Amino acid sequence: MENDCMLQIDNLHVFYDNIHALKGISLKVKKGEIVSLIGANGAGKTTTLQSISGLIPSKKGVIQFENENITNFASHIICQKGIAQVPEGRRIFSKLLVKDNLKLGSFTVNDSPENLEKDRAKFYKTFPRMSERKNQMAGTLSGGEQQMLAMGRALMSRPKLLILDEPSMGLSPLFVKEIFNVIKKLKTEGVTILLVEQNAKMALSVADYAYVIETGKITIEGKARDLLNNPDVKKAYLGA
Ligand SMILES: Nc1ncnc2c1ncn2[C@@H]1O[C@H](COP(=O)(O)OP(=O)(O)OP(=O)(O)O)[C@@H](O)[C@H]1O
Ligand SMILES: [Mg+2]
Repeated sequence: MENDCMLQIDNLHVFYDNIHALKGISLKVKKGEIVSLIGANGAGKTTTLQSISGLIPSKKGVIQFENENITNFASHIICQKGIAQVPEGRRIFSKLLVKDNLKLGSFTVNDSPENLEKDRAKFYKTFPRMSERKNQMAGTLSGGEQQMLAMGRALMSRPKLLILDEPSMGLSPLFVKEIFNVIKKLKTEGVTILLVEQNAKMALSVADYAYVIETGKITIEGKARDLLNNPDVKKAYLGA
């Protein structure tokens, strides 16, 4: 594994009973980069992310994080190592208050209550809209607000690698822009990001490097800038 490589997946195979969902996926995420994974519905994007987070077992292949083989480790151990995932559909705790959802995000962090409070203050500064809704039940937030909260909750664990599964899903253009602005800001703060998106144009615009996945296989990879100009990518994913 190269020094600047944070995550490396080699030849990953995942099955759901007899469905061969991932057929030898290989990809790398370098430290400080945003890497996007794009593909059609059912291509295997979520499955890839869930395997990294330890939520789905793999049958063959290796997942390395910071030079350690974490393949099929328990999900809470993977989280402790510094990988946080914002799942598809957000999965916030809808019956809890916004502020309590955030607090739960920091439960793996071994630091003083004052410093954890500082993390939350920073989040509220980035998302003033959340600050106004601290004492609101999370389930009553709008879809876009729930997405922000889900990202906030993941950030409270101070992840080295943040994994986002379709953060723009179901959001209005203004919110999509806001979410992507946050993603760019996180990068400047040194967070490494693996991003899965249907919105290929946005995903490629913010990313350094990108992969296209089709029915469980990586078919195209390259600098995100080059993929934006790739005729095959344009035709299949950019509606041009
Ligand atoms: N729990 C499951 N049981 C059986 N098959 C599954 C399960 N989860 C996913 N699959 C199948 O694995 C394949 C990949 O699914 P996955 O959810 O990874 O796709 P995706 O790229 O995230 O799609 P989408 O863009 O719709 O979210 C699909 O064919 C899907 O039907
Ligand atoms: Mg998915």
